[in-house]
Amino acid sequence: MRGAGAGKVRVKTAKGRTAQSVRWLERHLNDPYVKKAKAEGWRSRAAFKLIELDEKFHFVKGSRAVVDLGVAPGGWAQVVRKMAPKAAVVGIDLLPTDPIPGVTLFEMDFMDDKAPDLLREALGQEPDLIISDMAANTVGHAQTDHLRTMGLVEAAAQFAVENLRKGGTFVAKVFAGGTDAELLAVLKRHFTTIKHAKPPASRKGSVEWYVVAQGFKGRADDPA
Ligand SMILES: C[S@@+](CC[C@H](N)C(=O)[O-])C[C@H]1O[C@@H](n2cnc3c(N)ncnc32)[C@H](O)[C@@H]1O
Repeated sequence: MRGAGAGKVRVKTAKGRTAQSVRWLERHLNDPYVKKAKAEGWRSRAAFKLIELDEKFHFVKGSRAVVDLGVAPGGWAQVVRKMAPKAAVVGIDLLPTDPIPGVTLFEMDFMDDKAPDLLREALGQEPDLIISDMAANTVGHAQTDHLRTMGLVEAAAQFAVENLRKGGTFVAKVFAGGTDAELLAVLKRHFTTIKHAKPPASRKGSVEWYVVAQGFKGRADDPA
C-alpha cells in the first residue's frame, strides 16, 4: 500500500488479492466516514447512519430498553450507549462483538428459534426501541440478495410486533428502495408512522435503505 496523489490511498494488487477486493479496500481506505469513525472512536462507519437517522426522526434519546439486531462490530450500540446512557441494551450477531460496557451481547443467529427468548430475558423488560442493521452476505445475484435480506427484516419486524412497548420504534435496513408490499402492510397495521430514509452515510451506489416505523400501536393484551 502506498500514498498517491492528493492524499488518496492506492492499493497495489497484492498476490492473492482479487481486483474486486482491491477496489473495496481502496474505497474503504479513502472513505471520509471511515476516517471520521476512526477519529471519533466509533467501531464502524455504520454508526453515522444511526446518528443521521436519529437526527431526522429522534428515536434514540430517552430510550429505556433497546435491542440491536446485527450488532457487530458495535457502532450502533456505541451510539445508543452514548445518546441513551441509562438504557438497557442487548445485541445479537452471528459474528463476535468485542465487549461494550452496558451492552449484553449474544453471538448467535437471530433466526435461531431460541434467539427471541434469550433477547427478551436478557433485557428483562419490553424494549421501546428495536434496531436492525442485519444484512445477509450478498452473493451478487440481485434477486437472491434481496430475498435473503428481506427474510431477515421480516423476522425482525415480527419480533418487534411481538415485543415492543406501546409507542415504541422499529428501525431496519431494507434493500432496493424500501419495504416490499407485505412487510409494509404489516408495519402499517402496527405503527402510526412509517418513513423510508437513505441517510447520507449510506453509500449512494448501494441498494440499502432504512425503514423507520414509529408509534407502535401495542398488542391486544397490552393494558389500556
Ligand atoms: C452492517 S453489519 C452491522 C453493523 C452495526 N450496525 C454497527 O454499527 O457496527 C450487519 C451485521 O448483520 C449480521 N447478521 C447477518 N445475518 C444475521 C443473523 N441471521 N443473525 C444475526 N446477525 C446477522 C452480520 O453478521 C453483520 O455483522
